[in-house]
Amino acid sequence: MINREKAMSIITKYRQEHLLQYYDELSDEEKNELLKQIELIDFSVLENLNGGKNIADIRGTFAPLGAVTIGDIASNSKEYIRTGVEAIKAGKAAAVLLAGGQGTRLGFDKPKGMFNIGVDKELYIFECLIINLMDVVELAGTWIPLYIMTSEKNNKDTMDFFAEKNYFGYDSDYIHFFIQDMAPSVDFDGRILMESKSRISVSPNGNGGWFSSLVRAGLLEDIKKKGVEWINVFAVDNVLQRIADPGFLGAVIKSGFQSGSKVVSKAAPEEKVGVLCLEDGKPSIVEYYEMTDEMRTLIDENGELAYKYGVILNYLFNVNKLEEICDKKLPVHVVDKKIPFMNENGDYIIPTSPNGHKFETLVLDMVHLQDSCLAYEVVREKEFAPVKNATGVDSVETARELLKANGVEI
Ligand code: UTP
Repeated sequence: MINREKAMSIITKYRQEHLLQYYDELSDEEKNELLKQIELIDFSVLENLNGGKNIADIRGTFAPLGAVTIGDIASNSKEYIRTGVEAIKAGKAAAVLLAGGQGTRLGFDKPKGMFNIGVDKELYIFECLIINLMDVVELAGTWIPLYIMTSEKNNKDTMDFFAEKNYFGYDSDYIHFFIQDMAPSVDFDGRILMESKSRISVSPNGNGGWFSSLVRAGLLEDIKKKGVEWINVFAVDNVLQRIADPGFLGAVIKSGFQSGSKVVSKAAPEEKVGVLCLEDGKPSIVEYYEMTDEMRTLIDENGELAYKYGVILNYLFNVNKLEEICDKKLPVHVVDKKIPFMNENGDYIIPTSPNGHKFETLVLDMVHLQDSCLAYEVVREKEFAPVKNATGVDSVETARELLKANGVEI
């Protein structure tokens, strides 16, 4: 571990000397804790505070991108599924569950996957996902490696929960946990916030950190040793999520495309969902707030919305390409948040309005680093039941209704 001098030289470079302000008052254990944090933090994210101009906000020229539609899929489903199952049987597919988020909107104090979505019986979000993956395991007759990304904050709870529930019947040899990297939080002047005299305020660095965190955890070797070629990355909070879907995998393999994204048709032009499109000729996702009114309402020659295909955070990436892009930095998004901190009097403050920035990279930005991405349209009511909020839109209530409509006992 680094010593005080080394820590000082790192933080001086970023004009954050105050991080060691209380160093001499700390116990040995606290000193070590603080030095360890300084060693692990990626301070280069602070470079994104360039006078408030965020590089992630600079976009190219957008154009619509078509999809393999539900109709196309129905006509080719046998062939897609056969190709996908063959690849799974050959050990070429793995899945990565992104579960490092904080789930603030749900307001549940445990990892989101531990939420019980059941009504008459217990049915946890993690359990729904494992049940869905088991369908494919049974179809292919082989276990599919599942890598679960947690955060420093929720790793223990998540691992303990899986162990306590006996991995919901999954073979635990095929489940690996890894912790995502953390990024520092700053006030609006770019000064890193402290939680206490010995602890820097940090938060998970966004879901785009999954691949570099997986590499750092030494799991890429495991993936390569197993001969995995395709990784299906998916979010924790869609309880109807189809994971390692053989049809999707088969369609991507047959297309010869470098990656794939599940999409759903937008319900209305103003729906708040990121849309898969082209940006300067490369696949990309344009966020709903980045779209102009003209883009939102543009109609194509078939009378359909031109920017029609919304993403649902279910992607297929190729391991070789991931390795190639790993060193390319993803754009860092600077977001305003309420960040609890210790003030100059040593009091711990929980703000009621945003008081600073957090830094996040997003998995959707990985799509733009691919040469091609197959948009694979799925039926929204069958595959998309996100649990973002406690009530209202994309909530526990709407997800329960969708589970019931799909014949899941809850
Ligand atoms: P969201 O963008 O919905 O964020 O995550 P969140 O943290 O879960 O929820 P809110 O915004 O605080 O309410 C989409 C997916 O990305 C994962 C989440 O766990 C979820 O599966 N994620 C998000 C991470 O794994 N790490 C992160 O740093 C952020």
